[in-house]
Amino acid sequence: AKNMTFTIIKPTAIKNNNAGAILKMINDAGFVIKAMKFTRISKTQAGAFYAVHKGKPFYKELIRFMSSGPIIAAILEKENAIEDFRELIGATNPDKAKEGTVRKIFACSVTENAVHGSDSVENVRIEADFFFNQLEIYY
Ligand code: CMP
Repeated sequence: AKNMTFTIIKPTAIKNNNAGAILKMINDAGFVIKAMKFTRISKTQAGAFYAVHKGKPFYKELIRFMSSGPIIAAILEKENAIEDFRELIGATNPDKAKEGTVRKIFACSVTENAVHGSDSVENVRIEADFFFNQLEIYY
């Protein structure tokens, strides 16, 4: 059945003018954009978004980076959206990402890894609700 996933195009990808190319890869892979927002988040907001990683060695750098410039948050729909999106973007660490994946092509480092993708149905809901209200999602 069709379901949703949630993504963020991260600050370096925006800064490097790769947002259009990344969105094209997403559309070409069959994902339909259900909601999208060009925005910025504060350090506090980034800390809340990535609260599950609090205390990990990369947490401070991650929230500094995620609040360093504009991002694009989006909700995407497709059959098997969560797993297929993670396949499309590739491994968290771009050195381990397969050829042709978004992170292999556009990531600069494990922190500046071009895009975020939700890892579970529960997290899609939590993460989408962080950025969008009901009126902003056209079902
Ligand atoms: P993302 O999918 O946005 O979820 C958490 C982010 O933490 C991850 O992508 C990376 O950008 C960042 N990160 C930095 N270092 C690590 C690491 N060692 N393991 C996992 N995530 C990391």
